[in-house]
Amino acid sequence: APFTSQMEEADLLRGSVCRSKGGSSGFKVAILGAAGGIGQPLSLLMKMNPLVSVLHLYDVVNTPGVTADVSHMNTGAVVRGFLGQQQLESALSGMDLVIIPAGVPRKPGMTRDDLFNINAGIVRTLCEGISKSCPHAIVNLISNPVNSTVPIAAEVFKKMGMYEPKRLLGVTTLDVVRANTFVAEVLGLDPREVNVPVVGGHAGVTILPLLSQVKPPCSFTTEEISYLTERIQNGGTEVVEAKAGAGSATLSMAFAAAKFADACLRGLRGDADVVECSFVASEVTELPFFASKVRLGRMGIEEIFSLGPLSEFERSGLEKAKKELAQSIDKGIRFIRK
Ligand code: NAD
Ligand code: LMR
Repeated sequence: APFTSQMEEADLLRGSVCRSKGGSSGFKVAILGAAGGIGQPLSLLMKMNPLVSVLHLYDVVNTPGVTADVSHMNTGAVVRGFLGQQQLESALSGMDLVIIPAGVPRKPGMTRDDLFNINAGIVRTLCEGISKSCPHAIVNLISNPVNSTVPIAAEVFKKMGMYEPKRLLGVTTLDVVRANTFVAEVLGLDPREVNVPVVGGHAGVTILPLLSQVKPPCSFTTEEISYLTERIQNGGTEVVEAKAGAGSATLSMAFAAAKFADACLRGLRGDADVVECSFVASEVTELPFFASKVRLGRMGIEEIFSLGPLSEFERSGLEKAKKELAQSIDKGIRFIRK
C-alpha cells in the first residue's frame, strides 16, 4: 500500500471532505524518479498545477520525505508516495500521465550516450510497469539519452502488445526553453515573447534550432546564427560543466518538464491549439523518430507538423542531425530486440 503523509492520514481519520474535494476532478499524474534532482522540483511544480487532482511520487529511494514535504502545500492535488519496485504497480495504477525523470545524470566529459548502459535498463523496467498498470497513459520521457530511451520505450510497449505511438513523447522542451532565452538575450526581447522551434533530437548536433522560423519574425547575422546554434546545442553541457560533477540541469529541466506536462494535460482536457516540440514516432523524415512541433489533444499527439522551409544552414544541420540520430535510435531498438 502507498504511504501517505501524516497530514493525509489525519484527514482520512476525520473523513475530511477537503481531501476528496481536491481529488474529485482533474488528472492523475505519476512522477517516476520523483526524489531526484529533477524529480523534486518537478513534484513541487506539478503539486501547484490546478489540472492535477492526484500526484503519485515514485522512486527507489527517499520518496517518504519528498512526499511528506510536498503534501503540506495547500493546493488541490492529493499526494501519495511509493517506494521501491514492489510499489511500482500501485504507483502507476489509474494514471493519466506518467513523467519519467529516473536515471543517472552526466558528469563533465561525458556524453548523454555514456548514460545508456544504466538508464536503458531503468527505462525498460518502468515501461514494463506502465504496460501492465496504465497502458493508456500519456508518457513523458525525460531520462537520457532521450534519442535512444524513446525507441527503447516504444519497443517495450510493442513487446507487451501495448504500443500507442500517439502517447509516447520524449521531452525536448528544455531545448526550446534555452533557445527562447538565448535568442531573446541576443535580440533584447522578453524571453516569454519568443518562440523558437527546435527539431531533431536531444543531444549535441541532433538539437536543431530553426532560427529562420523564430516568432516574432526576426533576422540574425551569420555570426549570431552560429553562436546561437552552438549555445543551444551545448546548453546541457554548459550546465554540466558549471555544476562540476554535481549533476546536470535539474531546475530549468523541472520548469521545462512542468510546462510540457501542463501542455499534455491541456490537450487531454480538449483545449484547442496546444502545440509543443517533442521527440516522437514520426514520418516527418525517413527516421522512425524525430522531434518537431506536435499538436496535443485528447488522444495525445493529434498532429505532427512538417519542418517547413529551412535555410541552407539548417538543411546542412539536418543532415548531420539525422546521421547521429539514426545510430542512437537503432541502438535503443537493438537493446530490446537483442
Ligand atoms: P538524479 O540522479 O538527481 O535523480 C534521478 C532519480 O532517479 C534518483 O532519485 C534515483 O533514485 C531515481 N532512480 C534511479 N533508478 C530508478 C528506478 N529504477 N526507478 C525509479 N527511480 C529511479 O538525476 P537528475 O538530475 O534528476 O536526472 C535524471 C535524468 O534526466 C538523467 O538521465 C538526466 O540525464 C536526464 N535529463 C534529461 C533532460 C532532458 O532535457 N530530457 C534534462 C536534464 C536531465
Ligand atoms: C540537458 O540538456 O540539460 C540534459 O539533457 C542533461 C544533460 O546531460 O545535458
